Order: sequence, then C-alpha cells, then structure tokens
Amino acid sequence: MRLDKFLADMGCGTRSELKKEIRKGNACVNGIPVNDPGSQVSSSDTVTFKGYPVGYEEFVYYMLNKPAGVISASEDSRETTVVDLITEQKRRDLFPVGRLDRDTEGLLIITNDGEMAHRLLSPRHHVDKLYRAVVSGRVSDADVRAFAEGLILPDGLKCLPADLKILSSDNPADSLPDLLSDDADDALCDTEGVSSAVEIIIREGKFHQIKRMFRAVGKEVLYLERLSMGPIRLDPDLARGAYRRLSDKELRVLKEI
Ligand code: URA
Repeated sequence: MRLDKFLADMGCGTRSELKKEIRKGNACVNGIPVNDPGSQVSSSDTVTFKGYPVGYEEFVYYMLNKPAGVISASEDSRETTVVDLITEQKRRDLFPVGRLDRDTEGLLIITNDGEMAHRLLSPRHHVDKLYRAVVSGRVSDADVRAFAEGLILPDGLKCLPADLKILSSDNPADSLPDLLSDDADDALCDTEGVSSAVEIIIREGKFHQIKRMFRAVGKEVLYLERLSMGPIRLDPDLARGAYRRLSDKELRVLKEI
C-alpha cells in the first residue's frame, strides 16, 4: 500500500496533507526517512509519523449507543453523523452497519469491514434485530398474530414474520419517558392517551420498517431503541452517545454469521 494511504487510513490526516508532510520528511519507514508519498509499505514495516509509531490496523469494529438526533451516515456537511461520534480515531473509511432513523436510539455497529457489514445486512441471512418500542394505543394479541403471520403494508410490501411481545399495553400518557417528542404527545391524543411498551424482533431492515408495521395496524411508534443485532447485544454500561470497541468474543461470534 502507498505510504500516504497507510497514514490516511490510520487517521493521520488527509491524503493531500500527508503528501506534503511526507515530502517534508515527517515519515520514516523502518527508521529511514521516506520522502515519496507513493512508496510502498506493508503491515510488517515499522512506520513513524512526526516521531510517533503508527501501527496498521486493517479492520476496526465499534459498538455505538446511538442517541436521538444524529444521522446514520458517514459524513454530512450540516448534520452530526454517527461516525462523527467516534472520536478515538479519525479514520476516513468508517461507516455504520445499516441505518437507524434520526430519532431511533441504541445499538449501531460502526466499522470499515464491508464484508462483515454485508453478512449482517444481507436479506439472505435474516439476522434478528431486537427493538424495544413505545407505541400509541393498546397493542393487542391480534397485532401479535398479524406480525407473526407477516404483515402486508399498504404499499404492498410483504414483511417477514416478526416476533412481537407485549410488555405492557395500558400505560397512561403521564407514565411515558421524558424522552418522547412533542409528536409523540400528538399521536397519543388520538388514542385516549394510552400507550404500550413492546419488544419486537424483525429479520429484515426496510426503510422505517417498524414504524410502517405499526402504522399498518393503526398505531404510531413513539419511541424506538435497538437492543441487539444478531449475536451482538447493546452493552448496558454504554451511555447514550458513547462507544467502545467490540470485544474479541463479540468479533468471534460476528464472524460466524
Ligand atoms: N425501524 C424503524 O422504523 N426505524 C428504525 O430506525 C429502525 C427500524
């Protein structure tokens, strides 16, 4: 790999900044200053930049507890993205594995490993995704059966069977968490102020999937949080907005998918 790409991948700067720095003599390979940004290096070489060693790590994997209000994208000129929250390393090749809506919270894996992301997202693999939701109105056993059979949405989309579990179905409006938005208050007005808490497992990831599924049975999702994706569970010790590297054990099970 080219020296400037090696350093850019490791978050040392942009390719054009690094070309200048390398030409100024700020990079060494195996202890020898190298002025050519295009010179080839491999992971067995010892590279230093401005005197600091830079080890090459091909793939990185983070678990982020996504807060509401940030978008699931790698970069955006106006909005804060989930990748902006990974401050440890300014790698340029990170992306979120799938998307959560701006107002959805919880587990998001951030990586630069396209193959692993593909395995987790591929419709062929039907990876389980577990969510907790607060929904307007009283979720019923009939809704549970409809979700299990595979809902057909108004646009004709046939959903895969989903597991819906009712945690409570007659919460008064004033027991709802503070995190609910003003829109949620409006949605509750239509349903005599009653809401339900549920868990739902889906095995696909269509645009606004859970919101559209509940709308199809006459309910609005007021709050949505992802708790797991395949074998990876959201770490309960990870505060909203915080992230950590996936552990070796988590990586082992991910690679078995
Ligand atoms: N389903 C939704 O409607 N939104 C999400 O963010 C995730 C699943």
